[in-house]
Amino acid sequence: MPAIIDKIAQVLHIHKQTFDHAKVTVIFVLGGPGAGKGTQCSHLVQDFGFCHLSAGDLLRAEQHREGSQFGELIQNCIKEGTIVPMEVTVKLLENAMAAALKEGRAGDGWADGRGRFLIDGFPRKMDQALKFDEDVCKASMVLFFSTTEEVMLARLLERGKTSGREDDNAESIKKRFNTYKETTMPVIEHYRSLGNVAEIDSSASVEAVHIEAKAAVQKILDK
Ligand code: C5P
Ligand code: MG
Repeated sequence: MPAIIDKIAQVLHIHKQTFDHAKVTVIFVLGGPGAGKGTQCSHLVQDFGFCHLSAGDLLRAEQHREGSQFGELIQNCIKEGTIVPMEVTVKLLENAMAAALKEGRAGDGWADGRGRFLIDGFPRKMDQALKFDEDVCKASMVLFFSTTEEVMLARLLERGKTSGREDDNAESIKKRFNTYKETTMPVIEHYRSLGNVAEIDSSASVEAVHIEAKAAVQKILDK
C-alpha cells in the first residue's frame, strides 16, 4: 500500500486487513480434539477447492523447522494442551495464506487474486479470534463439529496408535479437553452470538457428517 494511504488510514484509525474479505473467503473449523475437523476438511477440499490450513499442523512444522526460535515453546504447549501465544500462530497462518494466494490454484474461487481457505483448529482462544479478524481477514463463518467427550476420546486413542503425535495420549488428551472447554468454547459462543456458527453433530459416520458439512458450506458460498 502506498505510504500516503497508510498514513491516512493511521490518522483516521481505519484498520486495514492483510487480505480483503471480498476476495478471500475464510471459514474457521472448530470442535474439540478428535471431533473430526481434519477428516471433514479433506472432504471439503475435494468438494470446493479450498486451501486447508491446520493451525496444529503449521505449529508442528514450525516446531521441527531448523533454526526456529519457537520450537521448544511450541513443543511444550502441545504436550500440555495449552495455547501457543497467538502472534506465532497468526503469523504462520498469514504466511501460509499469502503463499497459497501467490501460487494461485486452479478451480472455483481462485481466479484474479481470489482464494478460499478452511482454517482448521483456529481460533482456539479469544485473542486469536480478535487479532485475526482485525488484522488478517474477516472470517465468513465457523463450522463447528460437536460431539461427546466419549466419542472424541475413543477417536484420539485410536489415532494415537499410528499418529506419532506426542499429545494423543490419555494424559495430554485430558488437558486438551480442559483447554477446549475453558478457552475455545467462549470463542464459539462469541461467533454464535454474531449468528456466524453452523453446528454439525459429528458423532455419526464420516460420510453422514460430510453430507451435512457440505450443505452448510454450500450455503455460505452461495451468499
Ligand atoms: O488442532 P490440533 O489438535 O492439531 O492442535 C494441537 C495443539 O496445537 C493444541 O493442543 C495446542 O497446543 C496447539 N494449538 C494452538 N493454537 C491453535 C491450534 C493449535 O496453540 N489455534
Ligand atoms: Mg487436526
